[in-house]
Amino acid sequence: MSVRPAALEGADPPVQPTGGGDVPRHVAIIMDGNGRWAAKRGMPRAAGHRAGAEAVRKTLRAAAEVGVEVLTLYAFSSENWRRPEEEVSDLKGLLSFYIDKELLTLEHEGVRLQLIGDPAAFGPQLEARLLGAVERTAANRRLTLVVALNYGSRGEIAAAARRLAEEVRSGTRDPASIDEQALDQAMQTAELPPLDLLIRTSGEVRLSNFLLWQAAYAELMFVETLWPDFDGDALADALGVFAARQRRFGGR
Ligand code: IPE
Ligand code: IPE
Ligand code: MG
Repeated sequence: MSVRPAALEGADPPVQPTGGGDVPRHVAIIMDGNGRWAAKRGMPRAAGHRAGAEAVRKTLRAAAEVGVEVLTLYAFSSENWRRPEEEVSDLKGLLSFYIDKELLTLEHEGVRLQLIGDPAAFGPQLEARLLGAVERTAANRRLTLVVALNYGSRGEIAAAARRLAEEVRSGTRDPASIDEQALDQAMQTAELPPLDLLIRTSGEVRLSNFLLWQAAYAELMFVETLWPDFDGDALADALGVFAARQRRFGGR
């Protein structure tokens, strides 16, 4: 696991999420529809994934411009290994290409890269390059780009529970201290601001094992746009809808 949670003892309480009307601090996107985008054009799925990488570039730039602090992108789920080997290999190749090609851009644009999930499964070479990019951009502060790779939310929650259980077993934690905040701080997203807005493209209305814990009070948005057609304008539209929503967090 590449994103270490914050120290459990003495951790600060989670920051309050933004209210309605503001630019969301933390936006996550389930980037779906690459395959259908390609099929509509009679192109191979890999072409859809390539076009999807372009959409990442545009969306990232737009997010930084409007002042989003954290953009979390679902790039490969722990269930995506069920796809044919050839497609998995295409996706790995694209990731590898993107990391090399975009690293300088990320550095220039003040973007800090972080990872959630378990990129070790992509092999030591690609993992090392990903971690290298995380390290090289660690001091950047304009926007944090979190890429979810081989990520599954249930796996993340199970790992958090396991970590806390191990602390209890080793005598460093009292079971009574395991509350929502302790669990939150054991997630891979521990150091990120709370999730404000979760967007899924392509018209599918499901979470597909993405940020289940973190989405408890996020605003959910399902748009018809296929991911390769998503861009700065599409993000601006989503942020406009977000700003008009009233978040109540159980209050009135
Ligand atoms: C999303 O597009 C990209 C990944 C899941 C890696 P899809 O490949 O799921 O595209 P559709 O859903 O088949 O159109
Ligand atoms: C979710 O999309 C995963 C990513 C976008 C990386 P999928 O296309 O894999 O989701 P399902 O299979 O339609 O639920
Ligand atoms: Mg899909």
